[in-house]
Amino acid sequence: MVEGNQTEKGITRRKFTLGVMIASMAGAFASLFSLLKVLAPASKGAGYVSTIKPGDRLVYAKGGNAGSPVKASSMSLGDAVLVYPVGKTSNPANLVQLIKLNESDFKAPTKINLTDQGFVAYSAICTHLGCTVSWVKNTANPSASITECFCHNSMFDPAKGAEVIGGPAPIPIAQIGVKINGDSLVFTSDFTGPIGPQV
Ligand code: FES
Repeated sequence: MVEGNQTEKGITRRKFTLGVMIASMAGAFASLFSLLKVLAPASKGAGYVSTIKPGDRLVYAKGGNAGSPVKASSMSLGDAVLVYPVGKTSNPANLVQLIKLNESDFKAPTKINLTDQGFVAYSAICTHLGCTVSWVKNTANPSASITECFCHNSMFDPAKGAEVIGGPAPIPIAQIGVKINGDSLVFTSDFTGPIGPQV
């Protein structure tokens, strides 16, 4: 009887110890998993999902006329503006840089069929770490103007498919189709490649 009680107590104690060990190991695995999640880099382009659809009209993203349709006639050679698709201005992945160059300026890999009368558009999100790009107008030679990200000085050539011409950006900025409609512009395609940070 005494032996039996001792055996039952022994088994109960072993079960309890085993339970504590399993619970401890589960806790350790959970902590390790959390740590790995923190240390692992975010996946490329994470969080940048554009909702632009062909036919969406372009509106100004900044300034006193933010939200108004972009006027094609207001842009001269070497100009650029930040735009959104109308009604979809709360999604940062929809921010686009619209640029006016000469049609004859475009060289591969620019997708000419996605341009219209010198208007070309690219994502405004730098492919390095996701800052918004800026426009550096070359007043002496507007066709030589470039897109630059001042966070870490990545530079992109808008006449050559926004290929990287300097800095740490790993890939070009994706192009998106535009066309003139009256005096405004509409999008005609999705982005040609990934958008958002690609490191
Ligand atoms: S985020 Fe643009 S260069 Fe780093």
